[in-house]
Amino acid sequence: MSGSHELSRRDFIKVTTGIIGGLIGAVVGLPAVYYLIDPALQAGGKEAWIPIGKFEDMQLDKPYSFSFTRVQVNGWERTASSFGGYAVRKSDKPEELLILNSRCTHLACTVNWNEAANGYLCPCHDAKFSKEGEVLDGPPPRPLDVYDEHRITEDGIIEIFFKEG
Ligand code: FES
Repeated sequence: MSGSHELSRRDFIKVTTGIIGGLIGAVVGLPAVYYLIDPALQAGGKEAWIPIGKFEDMQLDKPYSFSFTRVQVNGWERTASSFGGYAVRKSDKPEELLILNSRCTHLACTVNWNEAANGYLCPCHDAKFSKEGEVLDGPPPRPLDVYDEHRITEDGIIEIFFKEG
């Protein structure tokens, strides 16, 4: 009787050790799993197609605001960065969309479309950009940057090609 108890205790220890070993393996293996699951999160994945909205929701000549977050994984460290912009629809052709980056070209504050002012205003140093991103007022040295590659999916979603930096 006591022998079988002895055996089951030993088995229990074996099983417990196996579970703990498995857990440690899972934790240590997590970065590798990330690497396999989402290459876009890795250093090599600084480029990606990002959906910004449905083409049919973008009204003619009315800047359509979008934003997205990118997460960089560096070992155990995760850094989230926000990006955004405005899509300006000029016609019924998706390829003629003008897609502006909302990061001010002066010191990188975020500009906001203001209907009354008919322009994008920067809250940091009172700059103003036209609907097409040209500098109308203030210190920015150049027009708003453009996301110059975009495409439309079968479902009518506009995606921009994002490249970090
Ligand atoms: S950061 Fe926009 S005007 Fe200075």
